[in-house]
Amino acid sequence: VTERGLSVVLDGAASGPKPRAPLSPHDRPRIAALLESLAVFTDDERAVALELVDHHLAHPGSDDYRFILGAGAPERLSGYLCYGRTPLTRSTYDLYWIVTSPDLARADVARGLLTRMEGEIAREGGGLIRMETGRREGHGAAVHFYDAVGFTRTATIPDFYAPGDDLIIFT
Ligand SMILES: CC(C)(COP(=O)(O)OP(=O)(O)OC[C@H]1O[C@@H](n2cnc3c(N)ncnc32)[C@H](O)[C@@H]1OP(=O)(O)O)[C@@H](O)C(=O)NCCC(=O)NCCS
Repeated sequence: VTERGLSVVLDGAASGPKPRAPLSPHDRPRIAALLESLAVFTDDERAVALELVDHHLAHPGSDDYRFILGAGAPERLSGYLCYGRTPLTRSTYDLYWIVTSPDLARADVARGLLTRMEGEIAREGGGLIRMETGRREGHGAAVHFYDAVGFTRTATIPDFYAPGDDLIIFT
């Protein structure tokens, strides 16, 4: 197994839940390049996504933001996912970001990352997973994706991001 995230999953399966492998500083430019390759993100969105990476790198012992990386060439990621336990809840998790390289769209990269996240959560006893997205996020791809992988549209806040761009909460 050469894919780091996958090896983490297998380690966890062998010996029960344990802290997952942290990102290394080497991963930051790979994630930055991936975010840069997605025209759908604004600079502000990229900056927020990288803040989570920087938080993780600056606080190696912290479990706030967990990352699962897709496979890929050394300098090129197929995708990544960032999730974490939701503070002040017993067993709820937030999926903060899920991103696939545009040249691998619709190749099940995101579906695979999500399956790995669900495996990690299951090993901790399971829990509710929440994700929030804008109706127009990724030109609507995010909503299509969450619908397709079986999440429920639990709540909508109309015009949250901008007129006509609702916030949709999936669980
Ligand atoms: C949303 C996103 C993560 C989906 O990644 P992906 O790897 O292409 O998704 P998958 O191949 O795993 O798709 C699984 C299913 O979701 C649905 N889906 C995914 N993208 C879709 C799109 N653009 N339009 C319609 N349905 C889509 C399909 O049903 C698909 O299955 P199918 O291809 O067999 O029909 C990707 O488009 C992306 O990175 N978008 C920009 C960032 C973003 O908006 N992230 C989410 C919010 S942080």
